[in-house]
Amino acid sequence: ALPICAVCDKVAEVKVQIPPALFEGMETLAWPIPLGACATFQLCSVPCCSEANAPEQVHLSLAAKDRSLMGVSWVTLDEVPSVVQFRKADSGDDFATGTGTVTTYTQGGWVGSIHRATMRGLEPDTTYSYRVGDGLDAWSAEAEFTTLPADPTEPLVFAVLGDMGYGDKSNGTIAALEKLVNDKAIHGVIHSGDVSYADGFMPHWDVFLNKIQSIASRVPYMVTPGNHELWYNFTAYKARFFMPGVLDEGGSGDNMYYSWQAGSAFFIAGNSETAADTAWFSPQEQEWMDAELAAVDRSATPFVVAHFHRPLYCSNSKQNARFGKLLQAQIEDMLNTRDVNLVIQAHVHSYERTYPMYKMNATQFDYVAPKAPTYIIQGSSGNRESNSGFPETLPEWSAAHTSEIGFGLLTVNPTSLDWSFFIVDGDGAATLEDQFQLQG
Ligand SMILES: [Fe+2]
Repeated sequence: ALPICAVCDKVAEVKVQIPPALFEGMETLAWPIPLGACATFQLCSVPCCSEANAPEQVHLSLAAKDRSLMGVSWVTLDEVPSVVQFRKADSGDDFATGTGTVTTYTQGGWVGSIHRATMRGLEPDTTYSYRVGDGLDAWSAEAEFTTLPADPTEPLVFAVLGDMGYGDKSNGTIAALEKLVNDKAIHGVIHSGDVSYADGFMPHWDVFLNKIQSIASRVPYMVTPGNHELWYNFTAYKARFFMPGVLDEGGSGDNMYYSWQAGSAFFIAGNSETAADTAWFSPQEQEWMDAELAAVDRSATPFVVAHFHRPLYCSNSKQNARFGKLLQAQIEDMLNTRDVNLVIQAHVHSYERTYPMYKMNATQFDYVAPKAPTYIIQGSSGNRESNSGFPETLPEWSAAHTSEIGFGLLTVNPTSLDWSFFIVDGDGAATLEDQFQLQG
């Protein structure tokens, strides 16, 4: 085993400047260079955890459609068995048990074991208590989650994050979401890429997944990959999550893209990235996406929401016009033809909403029976690179925008999608900044 990275210890958080001509959008990468460099070259190791068998970084995920299932993933230092125990909260019932699988990776000098297990036989609209561990004496604290209601017409609320990260700038967003979870006000979280901002420095994955555990261990946490996950061809991202397609049917089989449904909405979760930090929907993914969208039963799920990282549209000054145009050429006609209602994106560190639009023009200036998809850019949840400003003159398709840190709330109703964006302060106090209702 390699020595722990002590001799190469962190000296300072150094900013590395990468020429924008090489990697646009990565101009302000920063991580502890001495430690990061030693781990990158496999000269020493970065253990995930301080204790051998204690589970940490616990997070839940929904299956594609089967609501009797709930996925859970966690990390231990040693390779121990994967066991989840669960029962109805406050029931005094014996625990039901599920066993899982263990995986790992060694890129970036990381040492740890990643566990994935599935709770089965869950009833709708029911609160369960669960714990994960080795099946013997090393257990997590018990946490509770509530399954989705049986009635698909009941409104569901999802918090929407993008470009967040391990650092202090996400503290306000985390605190605001903790309050929503405590109040049982949200049914899940959608995070549209640039999840941890670890880049190639693996300990920041561990810091981030512990930071968001108070939320993600109590409501499902649905992620898609962003460019900050690209290191070692998305190895850490692929290993650490447990999305549909891995958990159950559909998608790429490696967490990169998948579909799921909840209440009155069908969600298509896309991968807009390549390992070279460019925008790209592969031909294989495009074909899969079109087949998924063509097969949606709109009487069961009248609304279709796409969520992925890189935007087709954004008027922010940091918008990369070249990649936006590329993605428009690749999938805009598909989104339009298949009547996708809402497209949730991130990558640009600001918030913006468009009117329904097609080929660079608004099709109308309201959201009643829209003729084209509406685009949201929500990349403002608080990352170390700070948020971006807007040009003085905005295109007429830009309906609302802010450069403040915050989060989105998407409410799925049988007859509308209700969207709001909240600005948060450092303590998590949330202020409504923007809202609209999209009527089918
Ligand atoms: Fe990004």
